[in-house]
Amino acid sequence: MKVLIVGGGGREHAIAASMRKSSRLEKLYCVPGNAGIAQIAECEPSIGVMEFDKIAAYAKEKQVDLVFVAPDDPLVGGLADVLKEAGLRVFGPDKKAAILEGSKAFSKDLMKKYHIPTAAYETFDNPDAALAYLETAKMPIVLKADGLALGKGVLICNTLEEARAGVKEIMLDKHFGNAGNCMVVEEFMTGREVSVLAFVDGKTICPMTSAQDHKRAKDGDEGLNTGGMGNFSPSPFYTKEIDDFCRKHIYQATVDAMAAEGREFKGVIFFGLMLTEEGPKVLEYNARFGDPEAQVVLCRMKNDILDVVDACIDGTLDKIDLEFEDNAAVCVVLASDGYPVSYEKGFEITGLHNFDGKEDYYCFHAGSKFDAEGRVVTNGGRVLGITAKGATLHEARRKAYEATEWVDFSNKYMRHDIGKAIDEA
Ligand code: AMP
Ligand code: GLY
Repeated sequence: MKVLIVGGGGREHAIAASMRKSSRLEKLYCVPGNAGIAQIAECEPSIGVMEFDKIAAYAKEKQVDLVFVAPDDPLVGGLADVLKEAGLRVFGPDKKAAILEGSKAFSKDLMKKYHIPTAAYETFDNPDAALAYLETAKMPIVLKADGLALGKGVLICNTLEEARAGVKEIMLDKHFGNAGNCMVVEEFMTGREVSVLAFVDGKTICPMTSAQDHKRAKDGDEGLNTGGMGNFSPSPFYTKEIDDFCRKHIYQATVDAMAAEGREFKGVIFFGLMLTEEGPKVLEYNARFGDPEAQVVLCRMKNDILDVVDACIDGTLDKIDLEFEDNAAVCVVLASDGYPVSYEKGFEITGLHNFDGKEDYYCFHAGSKFDAEGRVVTNGGRVLGITAKGATLHEARRKAYEATEWVDFSNKYMRHDIGKAIDEA
């Protein structure tokens, strides 16, 4: 098979690495890709993920058999629809299904209508009505911009003053652009967070092994929310009992609800879960692989990813027995100091060769490119996702942190407590 991956971060590098293991893969392309993906795929850095017509033309020119759309923006914007109209075979939900991630108001209403456990909420498209509601609401409270906001459109407010300022930020100052035209105000939940990603073919859902993200920028879960500073898989807190509950009341229920709404979902659903005292509840849905969830999950998957992708497209996922290795993986993100606010780019990355031939160690590139002299330089807030597998979570964590020392670049920044929660398990 000739395959084109759309995207250019650590997630796409992990997907590309997984496809490289398939005996069915003949040729791999990626737009725009990055310097790491370029080692295993032919990249076209001049094409951006929102340039739908250029992507379709490139896919046709290369005569690919499959286009795998990985990031949220193009999925929510309808890239899958455009590619399908051009006669291409596509992995990823179409626009009317990707709304599961694209609108928090939609996803909350869906959960309410189909009795899928989630936090209580109200939706507002008028700031005055939101402010009036907050006057008598219980604090802390959570404000969420309705649309896509790079994972940053969620404000946890401890006081009424903070909540008032939050409404201003989201709905009046439009800090997150049009994503803030509408806002969800949600009950604050406490508990452990777990991410579960699942392949979906419209009717059948196959959950993958669990993971736990670290969204805040600084050690001890301090600092701003980021795209994710590292994670581990599996989560020791995601027990068999919790899994049984989620399969019945959350995973299958979500797939059935989308089908009932005429929005059949095919692709990957990412369930952000909070394990509360009252049981698991949905924090959020994403319509795609997580980044860096893909890095710790796919390296442990035993199946040929192309078989699973085909089954999702063809509606034959019930024939697939999804299997994961009985081990663990940890990913530590090496970022540019200052991320997620402001940071410099263009610094040379050294030591990448240290990963050559090392089994169970992976250096996934998130933000890298070649400069004019052909050197690999930093090109983003998140730069590399240093990932290692081990027999246990402790071993995987030790190996991942060991490997963070193998590479270097100016302003290299990482959290030092990725996976600390496993000590409490
Ligand atoms: P989201 O993008 O919806 O996953 O939100 C980002 C982060 O905000 C989550 O990973 C949680 O840590 C936190 N969060 C979101 N909603 C809630 C909630 N209702 N209660 C407590 N924390 C929340
Ligand atoms: N790591 C969280 C996300 O991809 O949304």
